[in-house]
Amino acid sequence: MKKLVLTTLFAALTAASLSAASFAACAGCHGQNGEKKALGKSAIIAGWDEAKLVAALKGYKDGSYGGAMKGVMKGQVARLSDADIAALSKQIAAFK
Ligand code: HEC
Repeated sequence: MKKLVLTTLFAALTAASLSAASFAACAGCHGQNGEKKALGKSAIIAGWDEAKLVAALKGYKDGSYGGAMKGVMKGQVARLSDADIAALSKQIAAFK
């Protein structure tokens, strides 16, 4: 029984770390904690509130948000589900 629980837990953790909703994919441009201007252009997103992040990420996805380099972000968010966007926004909002 204990082994089954551990196996299930391990599977769940592995699935979570492989999920699209990991800020690791964003850190290359935005910095480990969202503290950098991505490619020298974006706003610094650390400390944004969750709702603002969700609006921006959904907007990049449907083309209704962004500046001169929004094409870069469209590629980043295209494969994210609404649940992924919500999870990512929560992570980023926790960065200070
Ligand atoms: C290849 C570099 C790159 C990667 C990787 C990247 N971004 Fe961006 N991001 C940018 C650029 C450039 C902008 C500014 C785009 C524009 O002109 O609107 C931006 C803008 C943003 C903004 C809005 C900031 C603003 O200036 O309005 C958010 C939020 C954001 N990115 C989140 C993310 C998340 C979450 C990920 C990971 C899923 C990610 N980014 C991955 C380059 C990147």
